[in-house]
Amino acid sequence: MTPPPDNPLLDLRDRFPCLDQTVHGKPLTYLDTAATALKPTCVIESLAHHYRLVSANIHRGVHTLSERATADFERARTTVQTHLNAAHSHEIIFTSGTTDSINLVAQSYGQLAIGAGDEILITEMEHHSNIVPWQLLRERSGAVLRVAPMLDNGDLDRDAFRAALNARTRLVAVTAVSNALGTVNPVAELTREAHAAGAVVLVDAAQALPLQAMDVQALDCDFLAFSGHKVFGPTGIGVLYGKNDLLKAMPPVKGGGDMILSVTFDQTTYNELPHIFEAGTAHIAGAIGLGRALEFVNAVGYPAIEAHESALLDHALTALQAIDGVRLVGTPAQRKGIVSFLVDAIHPHDLGTILDGEGVAIRAGHHCAQPVMAHYGVAATARASFSIYNTRDDVDRLVAAIRAAQEIFA
Ligand code: ALA
Repeated sequence: MTPPPDNPLLDLRDRFPCLDQTVHGKPLTYLDTAATALKPTCVIESLAHHYRLVSANIHRGVHTLSERATADFERARTTVQTHLNAAHSHEIIFTSGTTDSINLVAQSYGQLAIGAGDEILITEMEHHSNIVPWQLLRERSGAVLRVAPMLDNGDLDRDAFRAALNARTRLVAVTAVSNALGTVNPVAELTREAHAAGAVVLVDAAQALPLQAMDVQALDCDFLAFSGHKVFGPTGIGVLYGKNDLLKAMPPVKGGGDMILSVTFDQTTYNELPHIFEAGTAHIAGAIGLGRALEFVNAVGYPAIEAHESALLDHALTALQAIDGVRLVGTPAQRKGIVSFLVDAIHPHDLGTILDGEGVAIRAGHHCAQPVMAHYGVAATARASFSIYNTRDDVDRLVAAIRAAQEIFA
């Protein structure tokens, strides 16, 4: 019998030109997708096409190239709308990334609806970008920031989450997938519980969207943020989804071109959604590239992506646990795409450097999630993360490189 193919998406590797190189004389094994995904040729070409043949600014010009740029940019917005199943395209705000999106909500919705004594609930496993904007809001408003803890396996403590919700909770901000541990949070259920307490919900989908469909109407979340670069798109572009009624009530937080209808020194009339939140010249090529990236994801299909990622993750977990001296950090019941681990007495940064010498790219550090590190009493972990272009062979190279590092330190 023919064994099943190593990677049912194998031919997709050819679409990622970055993989076609050696690092320190070794074939590149890229296991740092959680930091940023490699880009397929179609995305690279869409950026090149825009700069080569269009290049014009949007929403402002009457000439052909400007109209083309505007049409391409707004088509990208519609692609995002369809991808997230948002009810309206004006619920899609282009930002510079997840961080920018969360800051926009903290500043604008914070100004609208969060005052002294009101509570914001986050979880212990949040990325710094879903912690610090709320701390800044706390400083501005006198609001209270509450944190639902994790269990020791890296799952959210659901009882503690429920207990933290109360009549003062105005907003719950939670990641769908932890960037440090890979924990999958039940965001639909968390949203239901938060809504029952009268709070609005922001979902950080930066790590989730590359690996699973995020249907904002099915989740019923009020806001959802993600970054282009983690979902095979360009850096410097991201999205804030917000429900129409909330966005309509929210004040702008950045002033400038494109977000106005008229300006005098006495008074400015603001533009309508989504432009009111998109002051200044947008990352036009970035938005177009992001649209192309989401089309690429749809062409591959989430079922294939999920099946591949899950098989690879199982192989990685089994292989890593079979190495003496390797300790997994976090063993969540449900995880996606990410494994954090420690090796004997080797500092993660040393491990990362040795692995790099073997052509294996992982991330080592606190992963912008220092409270997660504090929970486990470590300053840093090594983190391997997986995508559609990875193979079982990549996992085996990781394992061989870890063994080589152990020999160096023995
Ligand atoms: N947030 C990114 C990561 O997890 C950069 O690596």
